Amino acid sequence: DRIPVICIDGPTASGKGTVAAAVARALGYHFLDSGALYRITALAATRAGLEISPDNEPRIAELARQLPVRFAGDRIWLGEEDVTDAIRTEQAGMNASRVSALPAVRGALVALQHGFRRLPGLVADGRDMGTVIFPQAPLKVFLTASAACRAERRYKQLISKGISANIADLRADLEARDARDANRSASPLKPAQDALVLDNSEHTIDEAVMQVIDWWQARQ
Ligand code: C5P
Repeated sequence: DRIPVICIDGPTASGKGTVAAAVARALGYHFLDSGALYRITALAATRAGLEISPDNEPRIAELARQLPVRFAGDRIWLGEEDVTDAIRTEQAGMNASRVSALPAVRGALVALQHGFRRLPGLVADGRDMGTVIFPQAPLKVFLTASAACRAERRYKQLISKGISANIADLRADLEARDARDANRSASPLKPAQDALVLDNSEHTIDEAVMQVIDWWQARQ
């Protein structure tokens, strides 16, 4: 396939969402925030009164397969509801992590994710973009950062939105989420074999964006 894909995977709050969106903007490519799909699926399940558990796996997978999701500029819609803010809470992130451990749900979201691959190209942000969803992608980046850095980043994000937060709690939450993402059997969080690893603890967001674009241009 000739439509290029740049995969940016990594743990929670590593800055990969910001980096991936900026790379997409710089190159004029489409952008896939795959985490949002898991967040929305979790929200849809909760709205349908389904507890997120393996018992409900087939029903949640069915919801995921028919997810009436729409990305419009920087807003995300679930049917008639603007869910942009509702899916960004810590609770929504935890629920997304739990829903994403269900293999049938992951399978149900594959076609939707493949649909984002359109000309002139795609930057895909997630946990398994390079390992599972776009294994043939010509550039795979694994963006990581220390837990301390990531907790601080998340803390600043929340405070800037006027949401009170506690760094120690945030760090414990993100370590719990990482552990679940890395240890699940379906598409665990890990770098693809051919991924280039970028440690964001030592870089600003702008530096990381430039590094990814440099790597991309070196492959042209
Ligand atoms: O990236 P974000 O924090 O929005 O993702 C929310 C959760 O969705 C992650 O903690 C992870 O469990 C799950 N996820 C995933 N595979 C992806 C993207 C996200 O399992 N490609």
